Amino acid sequence: MDVVKIVEVGPRDGLQNETRPIGVDIKLGLIERLAAAGLAHIEAASFVSPRWVPQMAGSDELMRRLPRAAGIHYSALTPNLKGLEAALAAGCKEVAVFGAASETFSQRNINCSIAESLQRFGAVAEHAQAHGMRVRGYVSCVLGCPYEGDVEPAQVAALARQMLDMGCHEVALGDTIGKGNPRTTRALLDACLRNILPAQLAGHFHDTFGMAIANISSALELGLRTFDSSVAGLGGCPYAPGASGNVPTEDVVYLMEGLGFPTGIDMKLLLDAGDYINAQLGRTPTSRVRQALRADCAAAG
Ligand code: HMG
Ligand code: MG
Repeated sequence: MDVVKIVEVGPRDGLQNETRPIGVDIKLGLIERLAAAGLAHIEAASFVSPRWVPQMAGSDELMRRLPRAAGIHYSALTPNLKGLEAALAAGCKEVAVFGAASETFSQRNINCSIAESLQRFGAVAEHAQAHGMRVRGYVSCVLGCPYEGDVEPAQVAALARQMLDMGCHEVALGDTIGKGNPRTTRALLDACLRNILPAQLAGHFHDTFGMAIANISSALELGLRTFDSSVAGLGGCPYAPGASGNVPTEDVVYLMEGLGFPTGIDMKLLLDAGDYINAQLGRTPTSRVRQALRADCAAAG
C-alpha cells in the first residue's frame, strides 16, 4: 500500500515564532495530544541559542519529559555540535541540521556561510551517527528567499545531495516564506530528482500565499511521500520576516485521506489538539478544514 508520512513540526516550527513565552507544560500538553491523535513523527524541540530563539528554551527538560511510546519518534533541531551534545544528553534519538540555499538567509539564521554550515553539519552528522542517532537535513528558501529573491533549483539540489552524502536519511525542502506554486515546485523537484530518490526528500511548505496544499499535490505526483505540517497552521521562522505558519496538519490529513493515502490520524483528536494550543496562545486557527468540520459539528447540534 502506498503510504505517506506526516511529520508534525508544530511544537518546534510552530511555537518558535510566538511572541509570548510558552512553558514546557503547555508544549507537553500539545505533544501529548498530537501523539494521541496518531502523529508518529513529531519535531518537538530545538537545541539552538536561547538568545536567538527564546521560545525554544527548555528543550532539554521537554525532551526528557516527553511521553515515550512504541512507534512515536521525536526529533529536535541541532545546528552545531553544542546543540547535538545537549540533544544527546536529553535522550534524543533523531536530530536535524538546517541549512539554506541562500547566503543571506544562512547568515541571518545560523550566523555562518553555506560552506561553513556544511562543515558544521558534517561534524554533527558524524557524531550523531556514531551515537546511533538518525539525522535529517533541511534546506531553507528552496522556492525563494526573503532577502535575495529567486533561488536556483540547481543550488537546492546540490545542497540536498551534499546533506544526503554526509549521512542524512532524508532532506526536507523548506519553502520558508511560502512563495512557491505548483509550477516552481515541479521545477525544483525536477532538478532534485535527477540525483536524489523521491523517498529521500520531504516537502516542508509554509502557507503564506495559500499554495501549500497545491504544492504538496504536485510533489505527491512526482513521488514524494513525506510532508511536514503544523497543527492549526502554527508557525513561522524568526529569521524570515512575513513568513506565516506551515501548512495545517488538518488540511494535509484531509487531502491525503481524500486521495486514498491512509494516515492513521484521528481527525477529531487532531482538531482537539489544535483547539488546545489555540486556546493557550489566544490565537485564531488558520485551518480551513478545521473551520469546515467544526461548522458541521455545530450544524449537527
Ligand atoms: P553563534 O552566535 O554564531 O554561535 O550562533 P557561537 O558558536 O559563536 O556561540 C555564541 C553563543 O551561543 C555562545 O554562548 C554559545 O555557547 C551559544 P556565550 O558563550 O556567548 O554565552 N551557543 C549555543 N547555545 C545553545 N545551543 C546551541 C548553541 N550554539 C552556540 N546549539 C547558532 C550560532 C546556530 C547557535 C545561532 O545562530 C542560533 O541559535 N540560531 C537559531 C536559528 C534558528 O533556530 N532558526 C529557526 C529554525 S530554522 C527554520 O525555522 C527553518 C525550517 O523550519 C525550514 C524552513 O521552513 O525553511 C527548519
Ligand atoms: Mg519551517
